[in-house]
Amino acid sequence: MRVLVVGGGGREHALAWKIAQSPLVSKVYCAPGNAGISDSAECVPIAAGDVAALADFAIANDINLTVVGPEAPLMAGIVDLFEGRGLRIYGPSRDPARIEGSKAFAKKVMQTSGIPTADFQLCDSPQAAREAVQKHFAQRSGYSGVVVKADGLAAGKGVTVCSTQEEAMAAVEDLMVQRIYGDAGNQVVIEERLIGPEASIMVVTDGHNIVPLLPSQDHKRALEGDLGPNTGGMGAYCPVAMMPSDLVEKSLETIVRPAIETIRELGIPYRGTLYAGIMVTEDGPKCIEFNCRFGDPETQAVLCMLETDLVELLMGVVECSLADTKLRWRSGAAVSVVAASGGYPGEFRRGLLITGLEEAARQPGSMVFHSGTRKTEQGIVTDSGRVLAVTGWGDTVRLAAQNAYRTMDSIEFEGKQLRRDIAQKARDLNL
Ligand code: AMP
Ligand code: GLY
Repeated sequence: MRVLVVGGGGREHALAWKIAQSPLVSKVYCAPGNAGISDSAECVPIAAGDVAALADFAIANDINLTVVGPEAPLMAGIVDLFEGRGLRIYGPSRDPARIEGSKAFAKKVMQTSGIPTADFQLCDSPQAAREAVQKHFAQRSGYSGVVVKADGLAAGKGVTVCSTQEEAMAAVEDLMVQRIYGDAGNQVVIEERLIGPEASIMVVTDGHNIVPLLPSQDHKRALEGDLGPNTGGMGAYCPVAMMPSDLVEKSLETIVRPAIETIRELGIPYRGTLYAGIMVTEDGPKCIEFNCRFGDPETQAVLCMLETDLVELLMGVVECSLADTKLRWRSGAAVSVVAASGGYPGEFRRGLLITGLEEAARQPGSMVFHSGTRKTEQGIVTDSGRVLAVTGWGDTVRLAAQNAYRTMDSIEFEGKQLRRDIAQKARDLNL
C-alpha cells in the first residue's frame, strides 16, 4: 500500500513512523512533513490545508490510504473531497468534525446525548459574556471559578481557566474586544470550572464500533506544577494512573458512545479518531472537550505502546470492518516530553540550530518526534513553538520518564524550554 499522511507536526511524525513499520505498506508520503518525518516518509511540499492539491497528489501517486493528522483539513472538508473523488481516507467528514471546530456544536451534542459536562453559556457579544461571568460568580458561589473559551479554533490556546471574576473579565476583553485570536473570539463559551485529574480518551470508530486506545494524559500548562498559560501540550504519558479500566469503561459508556450515536442520528456517521478530553470529578468523569483527531502530544506516547499494526486498524475504519478488533499493547508505560521554543506560547524565535539529534537517535528506549523543525544547509533548525517531543518507554512510568529525559538532555537549542515534571504524580507513586 501507498500511504499519505497529512500534516507536519509531532503527531504526524508518530503516525508516519508507525505506518512505515506496517508490512502492508510499501511507501509513505507526508505533506508537508518536517525534518524528522523525512526519516520515515517522503515529504512533499503541499500545505495540510491545500486539500484540492492533496487530492490531486493522491490520484497522481496512486495513494491507497490518506491519514489526516490536524483538524484544519478535516474542517475544510478533506474527507468529503477525497471520498467524492473515490479516494480512501481516514478521518471524519466535515459535518461531524464540527465536534471540535465549534464548541457550540460540541455542547449541543453533549446536551442532546445527556453527556456529563460543565454548566456553560454561549455568548456572542462582550456584554453578554461579561454578564455571564458576573452571573456565575454571583449565583454559583460554590464554583471554584469559570473557564473562558473562544468558540472557534485557537490551536489549544483560546482557553483561560479563571479563579477570579477579574481574570475572567480580562479573558473576555482579550478574546472579544482585543480579538487576540481574531474571529475565533466572535463567540465565547463561559463555563463552570471543573476540578479533578484530566485524561484524554481516544477511540478509533467507524461510526458503530469503538476501539479505545490507551488512556493518556496531556500537560497543557506551559510551566512546571501546572502553572502558566495553556499551550498545545507540553508532554503526555500513558496509560494514566488515575484511569483504571472501570473509569475508562464508564467514560466510554457515558461520554464517547453517546456522542458517536447522537452524531450518527444527526445524519453522517463519525468515522475516524474521536478524542474526548475528560476530567475525573467527584461526580465521576465529565467531558471538557471533543477533538476530531489524534491528540498531540498524546499520540507520540500512545503509538509507542501500540503493538498492533496501525494500518490494519485504520483500514478497519475505512472499510467499516472494525468489529471484533482487539489491540495489543506493550506492557509498562510511555512518557513524552515536549521541547518548546523559548517564550512559547507567546513570542518565540525560529531558525535556531538543534544539536545532539544523532546522539539522541542512538539512545535506547526512546524516540524523537519532530514537531516543528526544518532542514537547512547548517543543519536542522527550530521552526515552531513546539519543536520536538521525546517519548521514552519502559516497564514503569518512572523508567519511561528516565529514558525520555536522558534522550532529551542530549538535544540542545538556544532557549529550549521543557517541563521536568511530566507524569510526576505517577512517577512519585512509582507506577
Ligand atoms: P479545551 O480546549 O476545551 O480542551 O481546554 C483546554 C484546557 O483547559 C483543558 O485541557 C483543561 O485543562 C482546561 N479546561 C477546559 N475546560 C475546563 C473546565 N470546565 N474546568 C476546568 N478546566 C478546564
Ligand atoms: N493535546 C491536546 C490536543 O491534541 O488537543
